[in-house]
Amino acid sequence: MCGIAGYIGYREAYPIVINGLKRLEYRGYDSSGVMLYDGKEIQLSKTKGKVSDLEVITNKEEERKKGRIGIGHTRWATHGVPNDINSHPHVSQSGDLVIVHNGIIENYDSLKKELISRGYVFQSDTDTEVLINLIEEVKKTEKCKLGKAVQLALTSVIGAYAIAVFDKTKPNELVVARLGSPIAIGIGKENKEFFVASDASPFIEYTKEAIYIEDEEMAIIKLGKKIQVRKIQNDALVNHNVLELQMSLEQIEKGGYDHFMIKEIHEQPKAIIDTYRGRMLPDQGMIKMSGIDDHLSKFLHADRIIIIACGTSWHAGLVGEYLLEEFVRIPVEVEYASEFRYRNPVITSKDIVIAISQSGETADTLAAIKLAKSKGAFVFGVCNVVGSSIARETHAGAYTHAGPEIGVASTKAFTTQITVLSLIALKLAKEKGTFSESRFQNYLRTLELIPNQIEQLLNIDATVKEIAAVYKDAKNCLYLGRGFNFPVALEGALKLKEISYIHAEGYPAAEMKHGPIALIDENMPIFVIATSKGHYEKVVSNIQEIKSRSGKIIAIVTEGDTQVKEIADHVIEIPETEEAFTPLLTTIPFQLLSYHIAVMLDKNVDQPRNLAKSVTVE
Ligand code: G6P
Repeated sequence: MCGIAGYIGYREAYPIVINGLKRLEYRGYDSSGVMLYDGKEIQLSKTKGKVSDLEVITNKEEERKKGRIGIGHTRWATHGVPNDINSHPHVSQSGDLVIVHNGIIENYDSLKKELISRGYVFQSDTDTEVLINLIEEVKKTEKCKLGKAVQLALTSVIGAYAIAVFDKTKPNELVVARLGSPIAIGIGKENKEFFVASDASPFIEYTKEAIYIEDEEMAIIKLGKKIQVRKIQNDALVNHNVLELQMSLEQIEKGGYDHFMIKEIHEQPKAIIDTYRGRMLPDQGMIKMSGIDDHLSKFLHADRIIIIACGTSWHAGLVGEYLLEEFVRIPVEVEYASEFRYRNPVITSKDIVIAISQSGETADTLAAIKLAKSKGAFVFGVCNVVGSSIARETHAGAYTHAGPEIGVASTKAFTTQITVLSLIALKLAKEKGTFSESRFQNYLRTLELIPNQIEQLLNIDATVKEIAAVYKDAKNCLYLGRGFNFPVALEGALKLKEISYIHAEGYPAAEMKHGPIALIDENMPIFVIATSKGHYEKVVSNIQEIKSRSGKIIAIVTEGDTQVKEIADHVIEIPETEEAFTPLLTTIPFQLLSYHIAVMLDKNVDQPRNLAKSVTVE
């Protein structure tokens, strides 16, 4: 968690760092800070709260904004409550070294005791202040430069980190390092300026050239020189290719929408087309996915597929289970990465693990992948962020190509993950012969229609808004679905919880009678998915059960439905498609509903309290 942004070069660093931090606030936003160096003095400004709160402080004194070197931080607290003192950057005891850090130093306590015994005094409760003083102590005792001191200090650190360090006595350089948390370095023309950040979004308008250092690597960034990347463990030089960034500024701005979330909801038709473009080829009657093609025999002979993920990606994984079992007739298990990694799971080399992650940085998913690999499984990644840790750690994979997702509540990442899983399931069904050619063709053509159908479905916005106005003050909500739409019920409930803070539960519709039915009364809104081919009659019976207990029913049905319309309080129609693809449609009204309720309740839609977009800590 936490976002890091830094600059060293010939421009004023402040606007670059501050705007960069704003773009990184999806990573955490409980406190923020910035250090500027104007050639004489270090200017440190930090505060509890968002980057906009930080600006209130910096706006009071122009001095605070001066300098061509700067590092900044937006925090999601791990050690120490969010307050001004615990905010980053942290400064070493001498006042010379300054650090911003994303991650956790697990052995900070023993390191801190050791440093205290050597006379260090700590201002904050953070592990980060321990790290910067450790670097200072090493620099002093070894009489070495900053780069060497960082390298030596990190060899005695246990935990995860992405850091950027500045040394006032050598003001033309920055040192960065990573283990488990990402760092991108943007390279300006002729090495006259450099940018460092947790992802490339802070510097996209300045340079398209970047390198991403790997775990256990550090980089010494000196003005006018080529970046030096070294292995932390043995100091060996590493050669990194400079990457050409594909991201555009437009992609990471709101583009006329009030919030990123609603922009991203509306981007779904295009995102899904981007996901299947070049892969789904109905005219040639095939699906091309190099990550599968290159390892086809592994997929065809696998005993089982285990899907691992967290949060919304886990819900997409559940849809994947239904798709793969139905289409390919292969047993599938879906696991929370956080549980999987600690329960000594039984895995063999005949298992395929599919790891799903929007960010590609979720710590639990990454650890679960490493565990599965150590037990001999073949691991396939489904990620959105290109070049992310999970994308690199997996044996093969498929990107979702959804474009940057900034809103903390995941929307287009979810539907594009389901699209990738649909493509995988269809491809394997064809290769394995569990689908006839005509069924395969038919499904391909049906999937191809989905983006247009979502476009059409987005027109229900006004209706959903009216429904949102009726139920915005509910204290509890229930979401029900069956089969392919059970995971959508879970996801619908999660969306509402995340951004409106209304308690909501997702349940398989038929399980309602084993508990949640006790909660139903006239104050309880119940969102039910009752698509025409999805155990329709059974779900209608569940709706009747709700009705007879006076619950309020908001049903999602297939166009042309008549039966549910007679019983439900509100009905939202989705276009007709194969049942297996309905999650791509049924989820849209739930996304819109949560969005409108959160806006009506005046909640921070894009940055809900206590959450973060990318959870790089356990
Ligand atoms: C956080 C985010 C969720 C996301 C989950 C998994 O909790 O707020 O939106 O689904 O992490 O993230 P990943 O990047 O691995 O999909």
